[in-house]
Amino acid sequence: MFKPPFILAIAGGGSTYTPGIVKSLMVRLADFPLAEIRLYDIDEGRQNTIAPVVEKVIRDHSDSIRFTVTGDPETAFSGAHFVFAQMRVGQYKMREQDEKIPLRHGVVGQETCGPGGLAYGLRTILPMVELIDFATRYAHPKAWIVNYSNPAAIVAEGVRRLRPDARVLNICDMPVAAMRNMGAILGVDRHKLEVDYFGLNHFGWFTRVMVDGEDRLPELRRHVAKFGLLTEDAAKTDPQHSDPSWVKTWRNIQPMMNNFPEYLPNPYLQYYLMPNQIVEHQDPDYTRANEVMNGREKKLFAAADEYKRTGILPDAFHVGVHGEFIVDVARSLAFDLRQRHLVMVENRGAITNLPYDAVVEVPAYITSEGPEPVRVGKVPLFHQTLLQQQLASEQLLVEATIEGSYEKALQAFTLNRTVPTMQHAKAILDEMIEANRDYWPQLKQAWENGDVAK
Ligand code: NAD
Ligand code: G6P
Ligand code: MN
Repeated sequence: MFKPPFILAIAGGGSTYTPGIVKSLMVRLADFPLAEIRLYDIDEGRQNTIAPVVEKVIRDHSDSIRFTVTGDPETAFSGAHFVFAQMRVGQYKMREQDEKIPLRHGVVGQETCGPGGLAYGLRTILPMVELIDFATRYAHPKAWIVNYSNPAAIVAEGVRRLRPDARVLNICDMPVAAMRNMGAILGVDRHKLEVDYFGLNHFGWFTRVMVDGEDRLPELRRHVAKFGLLTEDAAKTDPQHSDPSWVKTWRNIQPMMNNFPEYLPNPYLQYYLMPNQIVEHQDPDYTRANEVMNGREKKLFAAADEYKRTGILPDAFHVGVHGEFIVDVARSLAFDLRQRHLVMVENRGAITNLPYDAVVEVPAYITSEGPEPVRVGKVPLFHQTLLQQQLASEQLLVEATIEGSYEKALQAFTLNRTVPTMQHAKAILDEMIEANRDYWPQLKQAWENGDVAK
């Protein structure tokens, strides 16, 4: 491996999460020394707006760290030891389409679940592969890419197929966010929890929540039966996850556990287990994309503007589990700490009754050569079947992307649990092909050539 101080490139430098991640890095500099931070983005205007905020966060903590802002891959990745990826291919404009098109057909409209997530996957797999190729060409040969870019399950499967040897670790902050809430409910710091969990990304279950050798899931069940996975404390500590739509999401753990009390579900299972209620409570003209554009993004841009005018940076972004988690994972990779974290890995028998080559989300020990998943064993038939169906939908979507196959895309949409009929799948997919014409040229051509019935 390589030695600190590290060179870190952040791909998707213009992300609303960049200042928070960099703040997390700064408060942990003693544990994760940095020589240079580079921001890389294809939207240089957006990145240049956010960069002065990031630079201020760095300079408040260090005079010596070099700071580079670029749209050039060679400048961004040359000699880099770590790449943090957080790209939103198509930006919020396309997220809005991903959410609104299905909703017009009475189907869940969500960033990573259902047709919205599948569409986002079709846009993201190839740019992610391109990013890996840049890193392979320019970065340190042992560099690690730690990827947050969504839809992470589909991105991970696409990367597994197209670049199986890449040193990429795909992660999600949802399990740690849930663990933060669990900790607040139990009155225990989240770092003291050791959980068992199985599933796919945004589609899994906590099966044990150990604190000092004792399973505290029974206590959590009693709390969830009254309040869902929510406490006032947890809400106060995280402005993102205390937005009204997230509060509803945390509450929805309650109806899911009322029916299936054994395991504690990932909040995203609400979209698959109770899609009708979700759709009923969504405003088709004002979705989460609008909430984020008018909230997190607006606040950050306004702060950047104020900083430019006055030299004073208002409190505009949050350092929470999202930033903490990626730094924890990177440290464990850098120093071979073998810390236990929930991450996406190739199954390889960890869950015995899911395919060997499926990308699953399970606890793993993070070493400098990557994650070593723990053995989960056999999961119950109910969960196995739900997982298998979701996996098939996501795998078909990956094949659709690689092959430019309209038919496989339609199969992926039809198989998804959020989509009630083949007709819904087709109507939504066809509208999405129009909306994504700049992103899916091959699929659009297959459709227009009449390679399949229109
Ligand atoms: P954002 O739109 O503010 O930022 C994303 C940035 O990526 C934009 O500046 C955009 O220009 C850039 N980008 C798009 N395509 C690119 C490419 N090919 N190369 C380089 N940069 C590119 O979005 P955000 O809300 O801050 O979210 C960023 C990403 O992080 C999204 O993918 C989001 O879904 C993901 N995310 C994941 C998790 C997780 O649990 N895995 C948690 C939070 C956010
Ligand atoms: C959670 C999930 C992420 C997702 C994010 C959406 O943190 O784990 O995968 O991107 O929520 O948050 P937003 O505030 O953009 O709706
Ligand atoms: Mn996630």
